Amino acid sequence: MQTALETRPFAEVDTEALVSYVFEENDPVQGRIAELDQQTGGAIRRLAQSSEITGKSLEMTLLHNPAGLKAQRLLLVGAGKREQYGTAQLRKLAGAAVRYLKARSVKKCALLVREKDATEAAAQAATEGLLFAGFDSDKYKTKKENGKQMDSAALAGWDDATRAAATRGMNRGRIIAESQNFTRDLVNEPSNRLTPRILAQKAEAMAKEAGLACEIFDEKRIADLKMGALLSVAQGSVEPPRVIVLTYAPASPKPGAPVLGLVGKAVTFDTGGISIKPAQDMEKMKYDMAGGATMLGVMRAIAALKPSIKVIAVVPSTENMPGGRAQKPGDVQVAMSGKTIEVINTDAEGRLILADGITYAKQLGCTHLIDAATLTGAIVVALANINVGVFGSDQSFTDKLLVSAKACGEKMWPMPVDEDYREMIKSAIADIQNVGSGKGGGAITAAMFLKEFTGDTPWIHLDIAGTAWLDDAKPWAAKGASGVAVPTLVDLIMNL
Ligand code: BES
Ligand code: MN
Ligand code: ZN
Repeated sequence: MQTALETRPFAEVDTEALVSYVFEENDPVQGRIAELDQQTGGAIRRLAQSSEITGKSLEMTLLHNPAGLKAQRLLLVGAGKREQYGTAQLRKLAGAAVRYLKARSVKKCALLVREKDATEAAAQAATEGLLFAGFDSDKYKTKKENGKQMDSAALAGWDDATRAAATRGMNRGRIIAESQNFTRDLVNEPSNRLTPRILAQKAEAMAKEAGLACEIFDEKRIADLKMGALLSVAQGSVEPPRVIVLTYAPASPKPGAPVLGLVGKAVTFDTGGISIKPAQDMEKMKYDMAGGATMLGVMRAIAALKPSIKVIAVVPSTENMPGGRAQKPGDVQVAMSGKTIEVINTDAEGRLILADGITYAKQLGCTHLIDAATLTGAIVVALANINVGVFGSDQSFTDKLLVSAKACGEKMWPMPVDEDYREMIKSAIADIQNVGSGKGGGAITAAMFLKEFTGDTPWIHLDIAGTAWLDDAKPWAAKGASGVAVPTLVDLIMNL
């Protein structure tokens, strides 16, 4: 989708649909909406008086051939209450407008921002929303949905004084949304078309284009590095594992600056292994590489945005299969760190591969660690499909992430990782076991397992099992991969 800046007065904007937004308040016809109302001969006020327009969040009102406007249509989107309004809401409503119009075969639109929104932050949010909503998961359909694609979306409501801010915001918004869509595209891919080797190739191609250093470890190198936990998962499959290492280094690094390690789980298909999963919904386990894809998307974005700190992504990738050589419940494995692990359940494989990813990231000199993983069904029990589970060992680091999440409109909720839970992963015969004993707290014991490998390094674990996949479309998003956490992590890195 093309995006452009429109600085003509709104009445002059020649487009298939001019879009603006209305607040839910006593008189929704104010400011720019009052100007639009005047221009269109009172059409909006009449609809507001009859309560057809209330401004409720994402309410859609479509007017055809509006008088006084060059545009063929005027779409008014509800923005909800003014007190709750911010860039997160603008991102959603811009996206919802694109999906609403696309469904009606509109190919060209212009979003007219409200009088207070001619800012850089609003331009960024609107651009993110428009491009995010333009993404569809119909790649393998031979007949596209009537070719229903939005070709171009403009931002209107800016003038010569605010043009520079708009352009900066739009550039940044495009980088973030396209990186998030890059992640979504990987996550949607079926596992026969995205094996660990193919994921590594795609990461390498992206790194080359973005200007990131890239190293791919094959099974031999992985064995040389003694990544025994990763290898134990991979041994059940005929597809060999890979580890993807991408490095972003700032042009003029500050001495003593943090080095951030991003570790992402990339199980391209999780059958559960010998502790096999039931058939119901198993097809969804192609998205078990979403954590890895998230980190690749973040790296793609920061390669363009150029933060001042060094960032290294480590993405261990494998299938989890019940082949003849597969590990069996009760097996003991030696992780790269030297810790021994009793594998009680082969379906708790994500923590095994992350353990070695974390150890390797620390060996590379990372001073801070963040991992993202579709790690547990238990996080869905705790937080449903609404919030990302956030587990952190360092309060001030975790707080920074939560601030970024809020700013980006991504829901994330803190979870505990205190020492009391450590008891639950003690093994009778090895250092630790890969599932929690006793009842409950499955997402927490998974995080406790990871914590065994982070040592004193400040660390955040994001359990995205409930949020990386949308079972149903949202007004602003296609169903399938959500790209969750990419904007938040990019925002955090730019602020570190
Ligand atoms: N990939 C799954 C977690 C998952 C579940 C992701 C549902 C997305 C949706 C993970 O590898 C897994 O199987 N976890 C087990 C752990 C258990 C065996 C301790 C789980 O959550 O059931
Ligand atoms: Mn599993
Ligand atoms: Zn898994």
